[in-house]
Amino acid sequence: ERTRVAIVGAGPAGLLLSHLLAASGIESVVVDQRSREEIENTIRAGILEQGTVDLLAATGASTRVLTDGHRHDGIELRFAGEGHRIDFPSLTGRSVWLYPQHEVLRDLVATRLADGQDLRFGVTVDHVADATSDRPRIVGTDDEGRPFEIEADFVVGADGSRSVVRAAVTGSSTGGYFREYPFAWFGILCEAPPSSEELIYSNSPNGFALISQRSATVQRMYFQCDPEADPHALDEEAIWAELQSRVPGTTLQEGRIFQRDVLRFRSFVAHELRRGRLALIGDAAHTVPPTGAKGMNLAVADVVLLHRALTALLDDRDERPLEAFAEVALRRIWKAQHFSWWMTSMLHVAPDASDFDRRRQEGELRSVVESEAGRTYLAEAYTGWPFETRL
Ligand code: DHB
Repeated sequence: ERTRVAIVGAGPAGLLLSHLLAASGIESVVVDQRSREEIENTIRAGILEQGTVDLLAATGASTRVLTDGHRHDGIELRFAGEGHRIDFPSLTGRSVWLYPQHEVLRDLVATRLADGQDLRFGVTVDHVADATSDRPRIVGTDDEGRPFEIEADFVVGADGSRSVVRAAVTGSSTGGYFREYPFAWFGILCEAPPSSEELIYSNSPNGFALISQRSATVQRMYFQCDPEADPHALDEEAIWAELQSRVPGTTLQEGRIFQRDVLRFRSFVAHELRRGRLALIGDAAHTVPPTGAKGMNLAVADVVLLHRALTALLDDRDERPLEAFAEVALRRIWKAQHFSWWMTSMLHVAPDASDFDRRRQEGELRSVVESEAGRTYLAEAYTGWPFETRL
């Protein structure tokens, strides 16, 4: 079998890339190990940058984002018992949208299938063969366990943090810059009305909490916990007590908790993003801790750049944009790495924090909220820097 672009991974990065390529007249095959149900029901973050929303809407990848998503014009930072609102439009002229990632996924899968995309679930890629040639192949087993190979002009690893394609790009499946954090998030979904109109990022003596939303009747909340915590060790009453203790000043609207998980924190950037006719995008290329919701938005920015590089390569035989891809993508990736690390370290309480560290942290939070320059930096990063257009 043969295609122009073989895309491993049907997450937001892989599906959006196939969508943009199709609009440019370039055919692709997208394969994923998981089933469609699994992909569509994976609970991830819920905040989309302005640029992400504009792109999804303008390209027809998701029209529901504008009708079913909710525009948010600010967030609250809470610390030392007081709330401080960061107003996005007045600081940056932009906003963000609350629209869960799995809804983006459902829209993308539906759009791609309606468009006739070759999209295969339950397909396991084992490795990339002839990785250094200009005819790389993905090799593995199909949904019935039979061996398959697809040869392509270009192979894209959009296969998440446990990427199989990564080894062919960087020389090892783990090779990259990374750090871990001494905490995790305990996340819940519950049946309750919103406790706040906007998101609350709260630093409290008991640790961090994030009060987010999903709809008028379903809410998403998180609190800082030990990375080894067992999500089923706490009963509902204990979960509400933890959450409530971390947002003094707000009375949380409680309701049945129907989903719970522990999210581990990691920062990771692969040593290489491209080698010959192979490239990595999305979580295969980088992982950020969740504070600030950069993960999927960063994947979308990668896709915008790679789409441009691939159309130049495949339509015009122009290699230059592809040569520039990794360097240009990495500028935004490291800015987002910094922002995610900064939000995380500014808002969480490290297990070994001294009294000095806690007072310094409060000074840092005050420096941000009491300065228009501080609030503007946060708002620019949160709503998303403009997409790079030169390659
Ligand atoms: C959500 C997750 C985040 O990491 C964040 O910064 C904001 C919102 C969410 O799941 O709603």
